[in-house]
Amino acid sequence: MNNVVKVNPLNPDKDVMERAANIIKRGGLVAFPTETVYGLGANAKSDDSCGKIYIAKGRPSDNPLIVHISSMEQLYDVASRIPDFIAEKLHTIWPGPLTVVLPKGNIGKVATGGLDTVAVRMPAHKVPLDLIRRSGLPIAAPSANRSGKPSPVYASEVREDLDERVDMIIDGGPAFFGVESTVIMFKEEEILILRPGAFSAEDIKEIFGMKVTVSSNLEGAPRAPGMKYRHYAPSKKMFLADSEEYIQQKCRQRGNFVVLCSYELSRKIDCPTILLGSRKDLYEVARNLFPSFRKLDKSEYEYGIIEPFEEKGIGLAIMNRIKKATEGK
Ligand code: TXA
Ligand code: MG
Repeated sequence: MNNVVKVNPLNPDKDVMERAANIIKRGGLVAFPTETVYGLGANAKSDDSCGKIYIAKGRPSDNPLIVHISSMEQLYDVASRIPDFIAEKLHTIWPGPLTVVLPKGNIGKVATGGLDTVAVRMPAHKVPLDLIRRSGLPIAAPSANRSGKPSPVYASEVREDLDERVDMIIDGGPAFFGVESTVIMFKEEEILILRPGAFSAEDIKEIFGMKVTVSSNLEGAPRAPGMKYRHYAPSKKMFLADSEEYIQQKCRQRGNFVVLCSYELSRKIDCPTILLGSRKDLYEVARNLFPSFRKLDKSEYEYGIIEPFEEKGIGLAIMNRIKKATEGK
């Protein structure tokens, strides 16, 4: 397809970025890499432009988008009533994979899914930062997958899902983390993690010095609307093993399945595998996780069995995605 353009993620070509910015200004859709996953961007200020995102993705219209910004001034524009101490912390954290839900400011109802809050983040990636600056607009961008599919880590996966539904796909190589940003909101003296992600719960706690709760563990807590939809999942069935021993035993019995696992476990089993990386490097596992779901779908096997990982650091996000993808099976 001629809508895919390669750029150097550390120094994106000015002409390409100028073309992309013009597409955004004219109301079109541009897919681009971020430090987390690929995003599908449109002018966040325009209801019409944001509407195209929902159509391209097949996304339910009550599931709001994340508004991407490149400056603190834009934060004060799109959000309102931001406590000074929160703004100060965000100023030191951003750019980075942390999304904050705040009372909405000057932003339309389509980007926010009709809520009175807005989710905002400043991405740590040259391509979206440059696109936001050149277009002079905040950019609303969910992950650039078809609704219900795993988020894309590679431009080729964006093409697989969206192709000609997008005006331009900027290929900046693989996204760095491979899991989405962490979404948080403030509630009285507490921080609720609405979606664990690339920014660790431990770091949030240390930086803000507040109690941190993962809200998916709380009954009746406010949730990211996205949490009610099936997410991140391969089309084939996948099961989460409760232990390494379980997988070893299943492999001895055999069957029409493939094991999604670490190098460490793969050495102990005699079974087809899709490798996720080393248990000692959960960042590697995170980068391989969503692409491994797509590999499972393309494989000859009927279903997958996936190894559990430690829920520490980025491991919390990894296990959150695995649990959603396996629906607790
Ligand atoms: O890493 C990321 O966050 C990527 C890149 C492209 O920035 N984007 C991303 O967007 O993952 P998306 O749309 O796939 O996920 C956004 C999540 C959804 O679960 C949505 O429900 C939640 O953020 N969200 C958005 N606005 C919200 C709001 N006002 N209140 C609560 N949750 C919100
Ligand atoms: Mg998504």
